Amino acid sequence: MKTVYLDNNATTEVAKEVLEAMDGVGNAYGNASSMHAFGRESSRLIEQARHQIAKLIGSDDDEIIFTSGGTESDNTVFSIARDLIDQGSERKKIVTSSIEHPAIIETCRYLVSRGYLIQYVPVDATGKVKLDVLEKLLGDDVLLVSIMAANNETGTIQDIKNISSMAHACGALFHTDAVQAVGKLQVDVHDMDIDYLSLSGHKFHGPKGIGALYIRKGVPFEAFVKGGHQEQGRRAGTYNTAGIVGLGKAAELALAYMNDEHTRLWDLREKLRKEIQSTIPEVTVNGHPYDCLPGTLNVSFARAEGESILLMLDLNGIAVSTGSACATGSLEPSYVLLASGLDIELAHGSIRFSLGRFTTEADIEYVLRTLPPIIKRLREISTL
Ligand SMILES: Cc1ncc(COP(=O)(O)O)c(C=O)c1O
Repeated sequence: MKTVYLDNNATTEVAKEVLEAMDGVGNAYGNASSMHAFGRESSRLIEQARHQIAKLIGSDDDEIIFTSGGTESDNTVFSIARDLIDQGSERKKIVTSSIEHPAIIETCRYLVSRGYLIQYVPVDATGKVKLDVLEKLLGDDVLLVSIMAANNETGTIQDIKNISSMAHACGALFHTDAVQAVGKLQVDVHDMDIDYLSLSGHKFHGPKGIGALYIRKGVPFEAFVKGGHQEQGRRAGTYNTAGIVGLGKAAELALAYMNDEHTRLWDLREKLRKEIQSTIPEVTVNGHPYDCLPGTLNVSFARAEGESILLMLDLNGIAVSTGSACATGSLEPSYVLLASGLDIELAHGSIRFSLGRFTTEADIEYVLRTLPPIIKRLREISTL
C-alpha cells in the first residue's frame, strides 16, 4: 500500500544529510567541556552548528543556546519572567495569545495557579491576533509579551515585527515561539527586533529532542536548567553533540532550500485545497487564506468526525492529524479553532494536512483520490 506522510507539523522525517552529519560525530565522543583534543573536536562541531543556526535566524552566534527543544526554550523564557516578578519588578503582567502551543498555554495555566497575572489576546476568524485588543492590554505594567510566529494547527502567521514593536513601545520584553516558522519562513531576529525566540530541530527535518533559544544580547537572562558551566552558565548539562550537529545541518539545509520549497509547498497545498473544495461539499478552510505556512492546510468537513476521517485515511496509508499532536487522545475539540470562532461541530470535523520537504505531487493526488469517498461514506452513516 502507498504511504503518504502529511503530519509534518507534528514532526518531520530526518533528512539523510542530517543523519550522515550525525553519524560523522561517532568519533567526536569527547565531552565538549574537556580541554583535551577529544573535547576540543566536539566543541568545534558544536560551535559550527551554533553558527549554522545563527545564520538561519540572523542572530550572532553567542546569542544562541542549545536546549532540548521548543518546550524547554519556551519554559526558559517564562521562568525568566517569573524570576523578574519574584525579584520585585514593577512590571507584573505577561501578555500572550489564546492560540499558543501547550508549551506556553500550560505554563501560563501553572503560573496563574501560583498567582501570576497573565492576559490572553484573542484572535480573529483567520487566527490573527487582534492588534487593537493587544494595544489596549499593553502598558507600563507589562513585563513580557509572548506571541507565536506561526500556529501549529492552522498555519496562520502573525505580524511579529509589528507586535514586537508594540511590545517594546510599552517597555516590555518580547518573545516569540517560532517553532513552526523557523526553517519554513524567513526569520531575522535583529530586523524583527525580537528579544527571545524558541526553535526546535524536529520541525524542519532535524533530530528530535534538540532545539535552541535565541537570547538577544543584554536582555535579562537566568538559566532554567542549572548545573555545570555549559553555554556560559546559561544552560547546564553535557552537550548532546550529535543532536546539535544534526540541528546545525538541518538549519543549513533549510536555509538553502527555503525559497524553492516555499513555492513548491504552497503550490501543492493550493492544489490540495482547491480540489478538496471542488470535489467535496460543505468544506470550511480554517486559518488565514494566504498569511499562513506554505505547507499547512486545515479543513473542516461538516457532518464527519475528525477522528473517523483520520482513522480511515490511516487505513489507506495516509497520516494526518486532527489538531495538535499533543491533543491526540483527547476528544476535546481544538481550542485553537474554537478561539477563532469556529462552530464546535466543525471544529470536531477538522483535519490538518501538513506537508514537508519529502511530500510529492503523487502524494497529493493519492490523497485527492482517497479522501472524497471516505467523507461521503462517513456522512452517510453520520448521526450529526
Ligand atoms: C508552536 C510549537 N511550539 C512548541 C512546540 C514544542 O516543541 P518541542 O516538541 O521541540 O518541545 C511545538 C511542537 O509541536 C510547536 O508546534
